[in-house]
Amino acid sequence: MKQEKSKGMTRREFARASAVAGLAAVGVASSSRTARAANADTLKVGLLGCGSRGSGALRDCLTGNKNVRVIALADLFDYKVKDTRDSIEKAFADQNGIDDGHCFVGLDAYKQILETDIDILIEGTLPYSRPKHIVAAVEAKKHIFSEKPFASEPAGVRMIIDACRKHKEQGFSFVGGTQRRHNKAYIDTIKKIHDGAIGDVAAMRVYWCGGLPFTRDRNPGESDFSYRIRNWYAYCWVCGDNIVEQHIHNLDVANWVLDAHPTQVFASGGRIWKPRNEKYGDLWDHFSCDYTYPNDVHVFSFSRHWDGCAGDVSEWAYGSKGKSKCCDMGDGGGTRDYVQEHIDLVKSITGEGPYYHEGERIAESTLTAIMGRMSAYTGKVVTWDEAMKADLSLVPEEWSFEKEYPVGPIPCPVQV
Ligand SMILES: NC(=O)c1ccc[n+]([C@@H]2O[C@H](COP(=O)([O-])OP(=O)(O)OC[C@H]3O[C@@H](n4cnc5c(N)ncnc54)[C@H](O)[C@@H]3O)[C@@H](O)[C@H]2O)c1
Repeated sequence: MKQEKSKGMTRREFARASAVAGLAAVGVASSSRTARAANADTLKVGLLGCGSRGSGALRDCLTGNKNVRVIALADLFDYKVKDTRDSIEKAFADQNGIDDGHCFVGLDAYKQILETDIDILIEGTLPYSRPKHIVAAVEAKKHIFSEKPFASEPAGVRMIIDACRKHKEQGFSFVGGTQRRHNKAYIDTIKKIHDGAIGDVAAMRVYWCGGLPFTRDRNPGESDFSYRIRNWYAYCWVCGDNIVEQHIHNLDVANWVLDAHPTQVFASGGRIWKPRNEKYGDLWDHFSCDYTYPNDVHVFSFSRHWDGCAGDVSEWAYGSKGKSKCCDMGDGGGTRDYVQEHIDLVKSITGEGPYYHEGERIAESTLTAIMGRMSAYTGKVVTWDEAMKADLSLVPEEWSFEKEYPVGPIPCPVQV
Protein backbone atom coordinates (compact mmCIF):
# COMPACT_ATOMS: atom_id res chain seq x y z
CA MET A 1 0.00 0.00 0.00
CA LYS A 2 1.01 3.59 -0.46
CA GLN A 3 2.12 5.22 2.78
CA GLU A 4 1.91 8.78 3.96
CA LYS A 5 5.00 10.75 2.94
CA SER A 6 6.90 12.83 5.47
CA LYS A 7 9.68 15.02 4.08
CA GLY A 8 10.14 12.67 1.13
CA MET A 9 10.15 9.50 3.28
CA THR A 10 7.31 7.34 4.54
CA ARG A 11 6.97 7.28 8.31
CA ARG A 12 8.37 3.76 8.38
CA GLU A 13 11.34 4.70 6.18
CA PHE A 14 12.00 7.69 8.43
CA ALA A 15 11.93 5.53 11.58
CA ARG A 16 14.28 3.03 9.97
CA ALA A 17 16.67 5.78 8.84
CA SER A 18 16.65 7.25 12.34
CA ALA A 19 17.45 3.87 13.88
CA VAL A 20 20.31 3.37 11.41
CA ALA A 21 21.62 6.82 12.32
CA GLY A 22 21.95 5.63 15.93
CA LEU A 23 18.81 7.36 17.11
CA ALA A 24 15.90 5.57 18.67
CA ALA A 25 12.45 4.92 17.23
CA VAL A 26 11.47 8.44 16.19
CA GLY A 27 14.89 10.05 16.28
CA VAL A 28 16.18 12.75 18.63
CA ALA A 29 19.62 14.11 19.40
CA SER A 30 21.12 11.85 22.07
CA SER A 31 22.75 14.82 23.86
CA SER A 32 19.37 16.20 24.93
CA ARG A 33 18.36 12.79 26.26
CA THR A 34 21.58 12.47 28.27
CA ALA A 35 20.91 15.86 29.80
CA ARG A 36 17.49 14.70 30.93
CA ALA A 37 18.87 11.44 32.37
CA ALA A 38 20.60 13.27 35.23
CA ASN A 39 17.76 12.48 37.66
CA ALA A 40 17.59 8.80 36.72
CA ASP A 41 17.94 7.52 40.31
CA THR A 42 15.19 9.68 41.68
CA LEU A 43 12.65 10.51 39.00
CA LYS A 44 9.74 12.35 40.58
CA VAL A 45 6.21 11.92 39.30
CA GLY A 46 3.03 13.90 39.92
CA LEU A 47 -0.54 12.90 39.10
CA LEU A 48 -3.08 15.38 37.72
CA GLY A 49 -6.56 13.83 37.79
CA CYS A 50 -6.87 11.42 40.71
CA GLY A 51 -9.78 9.40 39.30
CA SER A 52 -9.92 5.70 38.67
CA ARG A 53 -7.61 5.59 35.61
CA GLY A 54 -5.26 8.35 36.83
CA SER A 55 -4.73 6.54 40.14
CA GLY A 56 -4.37 3.28 38.23
CA ALA A 57 -1.77 4.84 35.92
CA LEU A 58 0.15 6.12 38.94
CA ARG A 59 0.13 2.65 40.50
CA ASP A 60 1.26 1.16 37.17
CA CYS A 61 4.10 3.69 36.94
CA LEU A 62 5.31 2.91 40.48
CA THR A 63 4.91 -0.85 39.97
CA GLY A 64 7.04 -0.82 36.84
CA ASN A 65 9.70 1.64 37.97
CA LYS A 66 11.34 1.32 41.35
CA ASN A 67 13.42 4.43 40.56
CA VAL A 68 10.30 6.63 40.56
CA ARG A 69 8.77 8.38 43.58
CA VAL A 70 5.41 10.14 43.63
CA ILE A 71 5.61 13.57 45.25
CA ALA A 72 2.50 15.48 44.15
CA LEU A 73 -1.22 15.02 43.47
CA ALA A 74 -3.82 17.35 41.96
CA ASP A 75 -7.54 17.18 41.20
CA LEU A 76 -10.65 19.35 41.07
CA PHE A 77 -11.97 17.64 44.20
CA ASP A 78 -10.25 17.19 47.56
CA TYR A 79 -11.76 13.72 48.23
CA LYS A 80 -10.15 12.39 45.05
CA VAL A 81 -6.72 13.61 46.16
CA LYS A 82 -7.25 12.19 49.64
CA ASP A 83 -8.39 8.76 48.40
CA THR A 84 -5.42 8.47 46.03
CA ARG A 85 -2.97 9.62 48.70
CA ASP A 86 -4.34 7.06 51.17
CA SER A 87 -4.09 4.21 48.67
CA ILE A 88 -0.52 5.12 47.69
CA GLU A 89 0.54 5.37 51.35
CA LYS A 90 -0.75 1.84 51.92
CA ALA A 91 0.50 0.14 48.76
CA PHE A 92 3.68 2.05 47.84
CA ALA A 93 5.15 3.33 51.13
CA ASP A 94 8.73 3.07 49.79
CA GLN A 95 7.97 5.23 46.77
CA ASN A 96 5.70 7.72 48.48
CA GLY A 97 6.98 11.26 48.99
CA ILE A 98 3.65 13.14 49.02
CA ASP A 99 3.34 15.77 51.74
CA ASP A 100 0.52 18.19 52.58
CA GLY A 101 2.16 21.00 50.62
CA HIS A 102 2.08 18.94 47.43
CA CYS A 103 -1.64 18.16 47.33
CA PHE A 104 -3.48 20.61 45.08
CA VAL A 105 -7.23 21.04 44.62
CA GLY A 106 -9.39 23.07 42.24
CA LEU A 107 -9.32 24.52 38.76
CA ASP A 108 -5.78 25.92 39.18
CA ALA A 109 -4.40 22.68 40.64
CA TYR A 110 -2.78 21.91 37.27
CA LYS A 111 -0.69 25.08 37.47
CA GLN A 112 0.38 24.33 41.03
CA ILE A 113 1.48 20.75 40.36
CA LEU A 114 3.51 21.97 37.38
CA GLU A 115 5.35 24.46 39.64
CA THR A 116 6.76 21.58 41.72
CA ASP A 117 9.98 19.83 40.70
CA ILE A 118 8.28 16.74 39.28
CA ASP A 119 10.07 15.25 36.27
CA ILE A 120 7.00 13.44 34.91
CA LEU A 121 3.37 14.55 34.82
CA ILE A 122 0.72 11.84 34.57
CA GLU A 123 -2.34 13.50 32.98
CA GLY A 124 -5.40 11.52 34.09
CA THR A 125 -8.19 14.10 33.79
CA LEU A 126 -10.65 14.16 30.89
CA PRO A 127 -10.54 15.04 27.18
CA TYR A 128 -12.03 18.54 27.64
CA SER A 129 -9.17 19.67 29.90
CA ARG A 130 -6.29 17.64 28.46
CA PRO A 131 -5.15 20.13 25.76
CA LYS A 132 -4.79 22.95 28.30
CA HIS A 133 -2.94 20.66 30.71
CA ILE A 134 -0.62 19.15 28.11
CA VAL A 135 0.32 22.56 26.72
CA ALA A 136 1.07 23.77 30.26
CA ALA A 137 3.15 20.65 30.99
CA VAL A 138 5.17 21.23 27.82
CA GLU A 139 5.73 24.87 28.84
CA ALA A 140 6.81 23.68 32.30
CA LYS A 141 9.32 21.28 30.67
CA LYS A 142 7.97 18.02 32.08
CA HIS A 143 8.02 14.56 30.58
CA ILE A 144 4.43 13.44 30.06
CA PHE A 145 2.26 10.37 30.31
CA SER A 146 -1.23 11.26 29.17
CA GLU A 147 -4.36 9.21 29.07
CA LYS A 148 -6.34 9.16 25.84
CA PRO A 149 -8.14 10.66 23.99
CA PHE A 150 -6.22 13.92 23.92
CA ALA A 151 -9.16 16.22 23.16
CA SER A 152 -12.87 16.34 22.40
CA GLU A 153 -12.60 18.88 19.55
CA PRO A 154 -10.14 19.75 16.74
CA ALA A 155 -8.88 22.94 18.42
CA GLY A 156 -7.50 20.80 21.26
CA VAL A 157 -5.80 18.45 18.79
CA ARG A 158 -4.13 21.42 17.08
CA MET A 159 -2.91 22.82 20.41
CA ILE A 160 -1.39 19.47 21.32
CA ILE A 161 0.29 18.91 17.97
CA ASP A 162 1.92 22.36 18.12
CA ALA A 163 3.09 21.85 21.69
CA CYS A 164 4.33 18.31 21.04
CA ARG A 165 6.53 19.35 18.13
CA LYS A 166 8.37 21.72 20.46
CA HIS A 167 8.47 19.16 23.30
CA LYS A 168 10.02 16.57 21.00
CA GLU A 169 12.57 18.99 19.60
CA GLN A 170 13.66 19.65 23.17
CA GLY A 171 14.19 15.91 23.78
CA PHE A 172 11.36 15.34 26.27
CA SER A 173 9.54 12.00 26.34
CA PHE A 174 5.80 11.45 25.93
CA VAL A 175 3.76 8.25 26.13
CA GLY A 176 0.00 8.17 25.54
CA GLY A 177 -2.46 5.80 27.20
CA THR A 178 -3.25 3.81 24.04
CA GLN A 179 -1.65 0.81 25.70
CA ARG A 180 -1.88 -1.50 22.66
CA ARG A 181 1.25 0.29 21.39
CA HIS A 182 3.09 -1.20 24.40
CA ASN A 183 1.51 -4.65 24.19
CA LYS A 184 3.87 -7.38 22.99
CA ALA A 185 1.21 -9.32 21.08
CA TYR A 186 0.23 -6.19 19.13
CA ILE A 187 3.82 -5.05 18.58
CA ASP A 188 4.88 -8.49 17.26
CA THR A 189 1.80 -8.90 15.07
CA ILE A 190 1.93 -5.45 13.53
CA LYS A 191 5.64 -5.86 12.83
CA LYS A 192 4.81 -9.07 10.96
CA ILE A 193 2.05 -7.30 9.03
CA HIS A 194 4.49 -4.50 8.14
CA ASP A 195 7.00 -7.15 7.07
CA GLY A 196 4.46 -8.59 4.63
CA ALA A 197 2.97 -11.59 6.50
CA ILE A 198 -0.50 -11.01 5.00
CA GLY A 199 0.65 -9.18 1.86
CA ASP A 200 -0.52 -5.64 1.09
CA VAL A 201 -3.24 -4.56 3.49
CA ALA A 202 -6.36 -3.72 1.49
CA ALA A 203 -8.92 -3.24 4.29
CA MET A 204 -9.42 -3.35 8.03
CA ARG A 205 -12.36 -3.61 10.39
CA VAL A 206 -12.11 -2.19 13.89
CA TYR A 207 -14.72 -2.44 16.65
CA TRP A 208 -15.48 -1.20 20.12
CA CYS A 209 -18.95 -2.58 20.66
CA GLY A 210 -19.90 -2.93 24.32
CA GLY A 211 -22.24 -1.64 26.99
CA LEU A 212 -22.53 1.80 28.60
CA PRO A 213 -19.71 2.11 31.18
CA PHE A 214 -21.59 4.18 33.80
CA THR A 215 -24.01 6.99 34.59
CA ARG A 216 -24.17 8.95 37.85
CA ASP A 217 -27.01 10.86 39.52
CA ARG A 218 -26.69 14.55 40.38
CA ASN A 219 -26.07 15.18 44.10
CA PRO A 220 -28.49 17.54 45.88
CA GLY A 221 -27.33 21.13 45.30
CA GLU A 222 -24.49 20.04 43.01
CA SER A 223 -23.32 22.64 40.47
CA ASP A 224 -23.60 22.03 36.73
CA PHE A 225 -19.83 21.95 36.31
CA SER A 226 -19.29 19.41 39.07
CA TYR A 227 -22.03 17.18 37.68
CA ARG A 228 -20.74 17.41 34.09
CA ILE A 229 -17.31 16.28 35.31
CA ARG A 230 -18.51 13.51 37.62
CA ASN A 231 -21.01 12.15 35.09
CA TRP A 232 -18.61 12.83 32.23
CA TYR A 233 -19.54 9.90 29.99
CA ALA A 234 -22.75 11.68 28.98
CA TYR A 235 -21.55 15.00 27.54
CA CYS A 236 -19.84 15.53 24.21
CA TRP A 237 -17.75 18.57 25.19
CA VAL A 238 -16.34 16.71 28.19
CA CYS A 239 -15.53 13.32 26.63
CA GLY A 240 -15.99 13.55 22.84
CA ASP A 241 -18.72 10.84 22.59
CA ASN A 242 -18.02 7.09 22.64
CA ILE A 243 -16.28 7.00 19.25
CA VAL A 244 -13.65 9.42 20.55
CA GLU A 245 -13.54 8.32 24.15
CA GLN A 246 -13.25 4.54 23.66
CA HIS A 247 -13.05 3.64 20.00
CA ILE A 248 -9.86 5.69 19.67
CA HIS A 249 -8.00 2.56 20.85
CA ASN A 250 -9.07 0.60 17.75
CA LEU A 251 -8.72 3.52 15.34
CA ASP A 252 -5.21 4.07 16.70
CA VAL A 253 -4.39 0.46 15.74
CA ALA A 254 -5.66 1.15 12.20
CA ASN A 255 -3.42 4.22 11.91
CA TRP A 256 -0.51 2.17 13.27
CA VAL A 257 -1.03 -0.77 10.88
CA LEU A 258 -1.55 1.51 7.86
CA ASP A 259 1.19 3.90 8.96
CA ALA A 260 -1.05 6.81 8.02
CA HIS A 261 -4.13 8.75 9.03
CA PRO A 262 -7.35 8.65 6.96
CA THR A 263 -7.95 11.11 4.15
CA GLN A 264 -11.73 11.15 4.61
CA VAL A 265 -14.64 9.45 6.36
CA PHE A 266 -18.28 8.69 5.56
CA ALA A 267 -20.22 7.84 8.71
CA SER A 268 -23.59 7.41 10.33
CA GLY A 269 -24.99 6.53 13.72
CA GLY A 270 -27.56 7.62 16.25
CA ARG A 271 -29.14 7.25 19.63
CA ILE A 272 -31.74 4.56 19.88
CA TRP A 273 -32.12 3.61 23.53
CA LYS A 274 -30.89 6.30 25.88
CA PRO A 275 -33.53 8.24 27.80
CA ARG A 276 -33.62 11.90 26.79
CA ASN A 277 -32.63 13.53 30.04
CA GLU A 278 -29.68 15.24 31.69
CA LYS A 279 -28.27 12.04 33.18
CA TYR A 280 -27.89 10.49 29.73
CA GLY A 281 -26.74 13.79 28.24
CA ASP A 282 -26.25 14.48 24.54
CA LEU A 283 -24.17 11.50 23.34
CA TRP A 284 -25.16 9.04 20.67
CA ASP A 285 -24.99 5.31 21.39
CA HIS A 286 -23.71 3.93 18.06
CA PHE A 287 -21.46 4.95 15.15
CA SER A 288 -20.56 3.21 11.87
CA CYS A 289 -17.77 4.70 9.76
CA ASP A 290 -16.07 3.96 6.47
CA TYR A 291 -12.63 5.61 6.60
CA THR A 292 -10.59 6.03 3.40
CA TYR A 293 -6.81 5.81 3.76
CA PRO A 294 -4.10 6.46 1.15
CA ASN A 295 -4.15 4.08 -1.84
CA ASP A 296 -7.92 3.59 -1.39
CA VAL A 297 -7.54 1.28 1.62
CA HIS A 298 -10.78 1.29 3.65
CA VAL A 299 -11.25 0.85 7.39
CA PHE A 300 -14.72 -0.11 8.58
CA SER A 301 -15.34 0.99 12.15
CA PHE A 302 -18.21 0.24 14.54
CA SER A 303 -18.55 1.58 18.05
CA ARG A 304 -21.57 1.38 20.30
CA HIS A 305 -22.90 1.37 23.85
CA TRP A 306 -25.68 -1.19 23.85
CA ASP A 307 -26.13 -3.21 27.04
CA GLY A 308 -27.03 -6.87 26.73
CA CYS A 309 -26.14 -7.15 23.01
CA ALA A 310 -23.35 -8.91 21.14
CA GLY A 311 -20.00 -7.33 21.98
CA ASP A 312 -16.72 -7.16 20.10
CA VAL A 313 -13.58 -5.16 20.79
CA SER A 314 -11.02 -6.03 18.13
CA GLU A 315 -9.06 -4.99 15.06
CA TRP A 316 -8.63 -7.13 11.93
CA ALA A 317 -6.42 -6.52 8.88
CA TYR A 318 -7.19 -8.05 5.47
CA GLY A 319 -4.28 -8.40 3.05
CA SER A 320 -3.58 -9.76 -0.43
CA LYS A 321 -2.18 -12.97 1.13
CA GLY A 322 -4.36 -13.47 4.19
CA LYS A 323 -5.95 -11.85 7.22
CA SER A 324 -5.04 -11.45 10.88
CA LYS A 325 -6.38 -10.06 14.08
CA CYS A 326 -3.86 -7.33 14.98
CA CYS A 327 -2.67 -9.18 18.09
CA ASP A 328 -2.87 -12.77 16.84
CA MET A 329 0.62 -13.29 15.43
CA GLY A 330 2.43 -12.24 18.59
CA ASP A 331 3.59 -13.67 21.86
CA GLY A 332 0.87 -12.91 24.42
CA GLY A 333 3.43 -12.89 27.25
CA GLY A 334 5.45 -9.99 28.60
CA THR A 335 4.65 -7.33 31.14
CA ARG A 336 1.05 -6.09 31.29
CA ASP A 337 0.74 -3.26 28.76
CA TYR A 338 -0.65 -0.80 31.33
CA VAL A 339 2.63 -1.20 33.26
CA GLN A 340 4.89 -1.58 30.22
CA GLU A 341 3.89 1.85 28.89
CA HIS A 342 5.30 3.44 32.06
CA ILE A 343 8.47 1.34 31.93
CA ASP A 344 8.95 2.46 28.33
CA LEU A 345 8.42 6.11 29.30
CA VAL A 346 10.92 5.98 32.16
CA LYS A 347 13.56 4.14 30.12
CA SER A 348 13.06 6.67 27.35
CA ILE A 349 13.80 9.43 29.87
CA THR A 350 16.82 7.75 31.41
CA GLY A 351 18.23 6.65 28.06
CA GLU A 352 18.10 2.94 28.99
CA GLY A 353 15.56 2.24 26.25
CA PRO A 354 14.29 3.61 22.92
CA TYR A 355 13.08 7.19 22.76
CA TYR A 356 9.30 7.63 22.82
CA HIS A 357 7.37 10.67 21.79
CA GLU A 358 3.82 9.57 20.99
CA GLY A 359 2.20 12.99 21.36
CA GLU A 360 1.60 13.82 17.72
CA ARG A 361 0.65 10.26 16.78
CA ILE A 362 -2.03 9.96 19.47
CA ALA A 363 -3.28 13.47 18.67
CA GLU A 364 -3.77 12.22 15.08
CA SER A 365 -5.65 9.16 16.35
CA THR A 366 -7.82 11.51 18.41
CA LEU A 367 -8.63 13.53 15.28
CA THR A 368 -9.35 10.30 13.37
CA ALA A 369 -12.09 9.57 15.90
CA ILE A 370 -13.34 13.17 15.97
CA MET A 371 -13.71 13.27 12.16
CA GLY A 372 -15.83 10.10 12.31
CA ARG A 373 -18.08 11.80 14.83
CA MET A 374 -18.23 14.98 12.71
CA SER A 375 -19.27 12.98 9.65
CA ALA A 376 -21.92 11.02 11.56
CA TYR A 377 -23.37 14.08 13.33
CA THR A 378 -23.64 16.07 10.06
CA GLY A 379 -24.35 13.30 7.54
CA LYS A 380 -21.54 14.66 5.35
CA VAL A 381 -18.25 13.22 4.10
CA VAL A 382 -15.49 14.88 6.15
CA THR A 383 -11.90 15.12 4.93
CA TRP A 384 -8.84 15.09 7.17
CA ASP A 385 -8.04 18.70 6.27
CA GLU A 386 -11.57 19.86 7.05
CA ALA A 387 -11.45 18.13 10.41
CA MET A 388 -8.00 19.49 11.24
CA LYS A 389 -9.11 23.06 10.48
CA ALA A 390 -12.60 22.81 12.00
CA ASP A 391 -13.71 25.23 14.70
CA LEU A 392 -16.46 23.40 16.59
CA SER A 393 -16.21 25.41 19.82
CA LEU A 394 -17.63 22.58 21.94
CA VAL A 395 -15.61 23.10 25.11
CA PRO A 396 -16.76 26.19 27.04
CA GLU A 397 -14.06 28.86 27.31
CA GLU A 398 -14.72 29.45 30.99
CA TRP A 399 -14.83 26.64 33.55
CA SER A 400 -16.57 27.58 36.75
CA PHE A 401 -18.54 25.96 39.55
CA GLU A 402 -20.81 29.03 39.46
CA LYS A 403 -21.87 28.95 35.81
CA GLU A 404 -24.58 26.96 34.07
CA TYR A 405 -23.71 24.37 31.38
CA PRO A 406 -26.93 23.37 29.61
CA VAL A 407 -26.99 19.95 27.92
CA GLY A 408 -27.39 19.25 24.24
CA PRO A 409 -29.08 19.43 21.85
CA ILE A 410 -28.60 15.82 20.71
CA PRO A 411 -27.12 16.08 17.20
CA CYS A 412 -29.36 15.14 14.26
CA PRO A 413 -27.96 15.17 10.71
CA VAL A 414 -31.38 15.43 9.06
CA GLN A 415 -33.31 18.71 9.16
CA VAL A 416 -36.83 17.91 10.44
N1 LIG B 1 -6.27 3.69 28.59
C1 LIG B 1 -7.33 3.10 29.09
O1 LIG B 1 -7.53 1.91 28.91
C2 LIG B 1 -8.30 3.89 29.90
C3 LIG B 1 -9.19 3.24 30.76
C4 LIG B 1 -10.08 4.02 31.50
C5 LIG B 1 -10.08 5.41 31.35
N2 LIG B 1 -9.20 6.00 30.50
C6 LIG B 1 -9.20 7.45 30.31
O2 LIG B 1 -8.81 8.09 31.50
C7 LIG B 1 -9.50 9.33 31.65
C8 LIG B 1 -10.09 9.39 33.05
O3 LIG B 1 -11.07 8.37 33.18
P1 LIG B 1 -11.54 7.89 34.64
O4 LIG B 1 -12.37 6.70 34.43
O5 LIG B 1 -10.36 7.84 35.53
O6 LIG B 1 -12.47 9.12 35.08
P2 LIG B 1 -12.64 9.69 36.56
O7 LIG B 1 -13.83 10.58 36.54
O8 LIG B 1 -12.59 8.58 37.53
O9 LIG B 1 -11.32 10.58 36.73
C9 LIG B 1 -11.12 11.84 36.14
C10 LIG B 1 -10.54 12.74 37.22
O10 LIG B 1 -10.12 13.99 36.63
C11 LIG B 1 -10.52 15.02 37.52
N3 LIG B 1 -10.61 16.27 36.75
C12 LIG B 1 -11.52 16.58 35.78
N4 LIG B 1 -11.27 17.81 35.31
C13 LIG B 1 -10.21 18.30 35.99
C14 LIG B 1 -9.50 19.53 35.96
N5 LIG B 1 -9.84 20.52 35.14
N6 LIG B 1 -8.46 19.69 36.81
C15 LIG B 1 -8.11 18.68 37.67
N7 LIG B 1 -8.75 17.50 37.76
C16 LIG B 1 -9.79 17.31 36.92
C17 LIG B 1 -11.84 14.55 38.07
O11 LIG B 1 -12.19 15.23 39.26
C18 LIG B 1 -11.56 13.08 38.30
O12 LIG B 1 -11.02 12.81 39.57
C19 LIG B 1 -10.52 9.39 30.52
O13 LIG B 1 -10.06 10.24 29.49
C20 LIG B 1 -10.58 7.96 30.00
O14 LIG B 1 -10.77 7.88 28.62
C21 LIG B 1 -8.31 5.27 29.78
